[in-house]
Amino acid sequence: RDLNGSDQDAEVKEYSPVCVGREADIKKMERMTAVVHEREVVIFYHKGEYHAMDIRCYHSGGPLHLGEIEDFDGRPCIVCPWHKYKITLATGEGLYQSINPKDPSAKPKWCSKGIKQRIHTVTVKNGNIYVTLSNEPFKCDSDFYATGDFKVIQTSS
Ligand code: FES
Repeated sequence: RDLNGSDQDAEVKEYSPVCVGREADIKKMERMTAVVHEREVVIFYHKGEYHAMDIRCYHSGGPLHLGEIEDFDGRPCIVCPWHKYKITLATGEGLYQSINPKDPSAKPKWCSKGIKQRIHTVTVKNGNIYVTLSNEPFKCDSDFYATGDFKVIQTSS
């Protein structure tokens, strides 16, 4: 059986860069959505940097491409439009504020829940934007909405 060979081919294909659009267009719109090897992603252009991540929020699948970008603790985050979860653009960490109940005078502190949203790699070549899917082996909460039964691919009509 040659199953191994074809699995490897499929894997190589799944993690090959896919052209998602023109640099000039994303610089103007500051965000775009794309389907990369059947995975829906959003690409942001924010303060001169590109960031790509799974399009559905790790919390309940909210549409991150419709969220606002704001800085929290000096880190640019996409704020999910559904329940306002904050996700760092650079690393996909979920941020939250914590208060020490034993110290009522303390200011709330920003903390990280760890990486929750899968981040993908953006590269620019000859004025085109390419996205390479993350093949980090860890389980990421956003995988739930990006794969399997819960995957929803929007078709534009
Ligand atoms: Fe994004 Fe709830 S779905 S915050």
